Amino acid sequence: MSLSNPVFIPGPTNLPDSIRRAIDLPTVDHRSPAFAASLPQLFDGLKQIVGTTTGKIFIFPGTGTGGWEATISNTLSRGDRVLACRHGVFSDKWIRMCQNFGLIVDVIDCDWRGPADPTQIEAILRADTGRQIKAVLATHNETATGVRSDLASIREAIDHAGSDALFFVDGVSSIASMDFQMDEWGIDAAVTGSQKGLMLPAGLSIVALSQKAREAGQNAGLPRFFFDCEIMGAMTDAGGFPYTPPMQLLAGLSHSLELLLNEGLDQVFSRHFKMAEGVRQATAAWGMDLCCQDLQFASDTVTTIMVPDGFDGDRLVAHAYDRYSMSFGVGLGQLAGQAFRIGHLGALSEAQALSGLAVIEMAMLDLGYPITGGSGVAAAQEWYRSAFSGHSVDASAADDSACEDVA
Ligand SMILES: Cc1ncc(COP(=O)(O)O)c(C=O)c1O
Repeated sequence: MSLSNPVFIPGPTNLPDSIRRAIDLPTVDHRSPAFAASLPQLFDGLKQIVGTTTGKIFIFPGTGTGGWEATISNTLSRGDRVLACRHGVFSDKWIRMCQNFGLIVDVIDCDWRGPADPTQIEAILRADTGRQIKAVLATHNETATGVRSDLASIREAIDHAGSDALFFVDGVSSIASMDFQMDEWGIDAAVTGSQKGLMLPAGLSIVALSQKAREAGQNAGLPRFFFDCEIMGAMTDAGGFPYTPPMQLLAGLSHSLELLLNEGLDQVFSRHFKMAEGVRQATAAWGMDLCCQDLQFASDTVTTIMVPDGFDGDRLVAHAYDRYSMSFGVGLGQLAGQAFRIGHLGALSEAQALSGLAVIEMAMLDLGYPITGGSGVAAAQEWYRSAFSGHSVDASAADDSACEDVA
């Protein structure tokens, strides 16, 4: 195992050196005025990242899964009906969590090689004349499949059906990497974790709730304590936490927000698109298929690649790790063995991306994959030369040496 190679798993992502330095702190008093004074800029920064001016941000010690739990337990009651598409392991897991909490889930089983289906969402909401469905759940970016769902279309579907259901979104592998507009898309809850686009270690669960979701929470009966948003919100407004906060991670978050906002979110999204496109070009050059069948829905944070018949994606990932000390993602759920994943979100340079493509190419050649050696790397090189020409990835960080790490 090499700690100097970047990882190509879709989170936790590579830690920029400046973030590691920001986290490397002695113990800080979480009841000190200095800590209280540091909080407002975290919430302001996160509001920009999720695209809201009216929503309220809650930061919990936890992970994305905790964010799902905070969302449902703060807004719904046992026996409430919710509607969700299942199109990968993460959407499936959120559905199972809802069922465990005693919610009744209307599941739309979608093709895993495509996005959540707004047409079926609209049809089911239209048929719900008694307005029993209290919330629609969507996974923006299915990290298992590399397929991005169209949240604006799901919002339209909810509106066209005349439903007043809340709209909850898992943005764990999209927020801070791909365009995300909580207010514009009428999202009532947006969830993420620290270890993906925010380029931090795992340990923070971040939830944004709309005013409508918070009002629903006043009558919501699901039990909550650790993830009680209103208690958390009142405490952070007053400059503290209801329990011991992870101080070092919060210091890292402050630096991560500075990096992202200094770079500019449009530039962050465009950088992720360009990085992802290089991986897609490499895949095409290998003659292999993306899991995502319609390119307009291809994820810019993770690419899931189908392995040819007769090959085993798990074996490929294990070989790349054992032989070349580089980590890639295995196929998950029904894609186990049939696919592998290249994560390319967060801090990654073109040079690093090329190293990942070169390694997976070597691993495929070692295992007899029917590809031409160097073809994927060459295709990505050509793309990166043109895509980033005139705008080096770290140009936006020219006057802030810390930001070079983001590139
Ligand atoms: C889309 C998505 N949702 C939820 C999760 C769960 O997040 P966590 O592992 O931080 O609990 C993940 C983790 O990879 C994810 O990719």
